[in-house]
Amino acid sequence: MTTLLLTGATGLVGSRLLPRLAQDGFKCRALVRGDAALPPGTTGVRGDLDDPDTLRTAVEGVDAVVHLAAQFRTSDDAAIWRANLDGTRNLIAAVKEHAPNTRLVMSSTGNVYNANATRPALETDACSPAAAYPASKLAAEQLLRDSGLTWAVLRLPFVYGEGDGHLASIQMLAPRLGLHPAQAFAVAHHRDVAAAVRLALTGVMDGRIVNVTDGAPVTIFEMARLAGQPIEGSAEPLANPWFGHLDGTLIRELGFSPSVPTIYAAARDGIL
Ligand SMILES: NC(=O)c1ccc[n+]([C@@H]2O[C@H](COP(=O)([O-])OP(=O)(O)OC[C@H]3O[C@@H](n4cnc5c(N)ncnc54)[C@H](OP(=O)(O)O)[C@@H]3O)[C@@H](O)[C@H]2O)c1
Repeated sequence: MTTLLLTGATGLVGSRLLPRLAQDGFKCRALVRGDAALPPGTTGVRGDLDDPDTLRTAVEGVDAVVHLAAQFRTSDDAAIWRANLDGTRNLIAAVKEHAPNTRLVMSSTGNVYNANATRPALETDACSPAAAYPASKLAAEQLLRDSGLTWAVLRLPFVYGEGDGHLASIQMLAPRLGLHPAQAFAVAHHRDVAAAVRLALTGVMDGRIVNVTDGAPVTIFEMARLAGQPIEGSAEPLANPWFGHLDGTLIRELGFSPSVPTIYAAARDGIL
């Protein structure tokens, strides 16, 4: 049985991924900072990415690490860099020292791509993000690429579903982030994020950065409306209609096929 450590298991993505991985038959450990209620069949290991001494117990004996833990729902740039870059550095160091044959799969973000895109973003496109969140994730990707470990990076899109509240948060986020209602973003349902992680754990993504997307980008306006938290429309022109789109050719070539093909299918099936 493969023993797996999941970081970020209490987050929007991790709390929906962990029971799926456990159900798949992985022997799951979750790195937790507090008293988190974890799904049956999984074990919590107390630790913090900020505290290297706590990571040894978490990684010893694991065959795989799925590294989701991150900070980005904050305006504290120092905290973002500390968790996303320094925390990843600490995790990589612990894995190299105590479980060097481990496969490390890390979630990054489609936000790393530049805003001047002329088509959906390819994994090979140049990235020079200015904001702390995507810049710290890109820097963490580079640490992993240079680590000498077996690695894969999943660049996640806007993840939604299963009542996680992410779609509903758009009503508050859109004005704060200056998002145009007609801007469309690549998305993926939690089920398909799990499918992408499963695929990465087989090794087919080793040494690769891979975009994750259902292939059906959806506008901010539609996402808010589907969540029942509508926002105003706008006839102002979009700065760049391609911004936020991810090319999903590579992940499909690697065997991924989204089980939730569009956000409208998710709405129809009651899994928003
Ligand atoms: N959700 C999306 O739409 C989306 C889109 C693109 C990329 N991603 C990526 O997917 C991953 C998960 O996102 P999410 O939405 O699930 O995030 P989230 O809900 O904000 O959860 C973050 C998780 O990271 C943990 N964490 C933060 N700092 C930590 C530290 N120093 N040590 C240990 N654990 C720490 C948190 O633990 P506590 O509960 O203890 O705070 C929590 O479990 C991130 O890497 C993110 O960049 C997500």
